[in-house]
Amino acid sequence: MRNDEKIVLGIESTAHTFGVGIATTMGRVLANVKSVYTPKSGGIHPREAAQHHSHLAPEKIKEALKVSGIAPSQINAVAFSSGPGMGPCLRVGATIARALSLKLSVPLISVNHGVAHIEIGRLTTGCRDPVVLYVAGGNTLVTSYKDGRYRIFGETLDIAAGNCLDAFGVTTGLGLMPNPEIKSYEGKKFYYLPYKVKGMDVSFSGVLTAALKLFREGVRLEDVCYSLVETVYSMLTEVTERALAFTGKKEVLIVGGLSRSKRLKEMMMEMVKLHDAKLLVVPEEYAGDNGAMIAWTGALQLLTNQTISIEDSKVRPRYRIDEVEIKWFNYL
Ligand SMILES: Nc1ncnc2c1ncn2[C@@H]1O[C@H](COP(=O)(O)OP(=O)(O)OP(=O)(O)O)[C@@H](O)[C@H]1O
Ligand SMILES: [Mg+2]
Repeated sequence: MRNDEKIVLGIESTAHTFGVGIATTMGRVLANVKSVYTPKSGGIHPREAAQHHSHLAPEKIKEALKVSGIAPSQINAVAFSSGPGMGPCLRVGATIARALSLKLSVPLISVNHGVAHIEIGRLTTGCRDPVVLYVAGGNTLVTSYKDGRYRIFGETLDIAAGNCLDAFGVTTGLGLMPNPEIKSYEGKKFYYLPYKVKGMDVSFSGVLTAALKLFREGVRLEDVCYSLVETVYSMLTEVTERALAFTGKKEVLIVGGLSRSKRLKEMMMEMVKLHDAKLLVVPEEYAGDNGAMIAWTGALQLLTNQTISIEDSKVRPRYRIDEVEIKWFNYL
């Protein structure tokens, strides 16, 4: 380990996942442990998820320290995901981070969850200046760096792509993703669903309602899945292509839970070829919510002195990625 290499512990708790990561300012991930809360039925209940996080936190922090072989006294800063996310869940992570920062007498760092998804993608794929599709359970947006910020080119006007596909899966009894996508591979007949792209923004609520209507009318489930998955992914590919053509950049990076999708990667691969661009996808371990992405982004913020006082360390349930000043962009 180099003398100037600093170690950051990062806590993720925005929604279903409680994650603890340990990463260094040299981009080494030393631990990435997590526990995912799964509701017995329906969607995530914020208070139940928060209880899960507070119960599991001590065990997961100890596990991360053990995996990394790092002693608490070696930690140079504590980072936490301050938003966007569910208030009760965010507050658990923030409270633990504040307590650790005080106990260890090290700086506290507030990390934007979406920015962290992007930074772990850049670190693990080695891409430099991509157009990013961040596609997950709660967020869907197309962004790229310009003049100190990740600028949002387009985003969902209502629900996220992951939420749309998960809600369809749960309502029809298939279960969460990737089940609806796996079912779609057996589909033969395509039904038109309301394809809504406005500029670079997308809307998925109409697609979901129309797909559920087909299901209730008795259309073969495989065909509904096929129509739904193809429609949702085509919309994502179209808006990403627009951003790529507009910026003239040569890399496309997919991050967030849906970056695991086989079919989305296929479509995006065909699209990037037309633009002589390269497709990069965050490795599966870092696709869904995880503590390593918070630790790594925290390390970048530590290098650029973007720390925060306990008094200012509020959680921000609606925190947008373009509110963050990205001072470290050319550090990588
Ligand atoms: N194999 C898979 N293929 C496609 N999608 C998947 C797969 N596995 C999980 N997902 C999707 O990933 C989503 C969860 O991703 P992630 O953990 O990044 O999201 P989130 O934290 O819920 O949302 P956000 O980052 O927007 O706050 C789920 O909604 C699910 O649809
Ligand atoms: Mg996420």
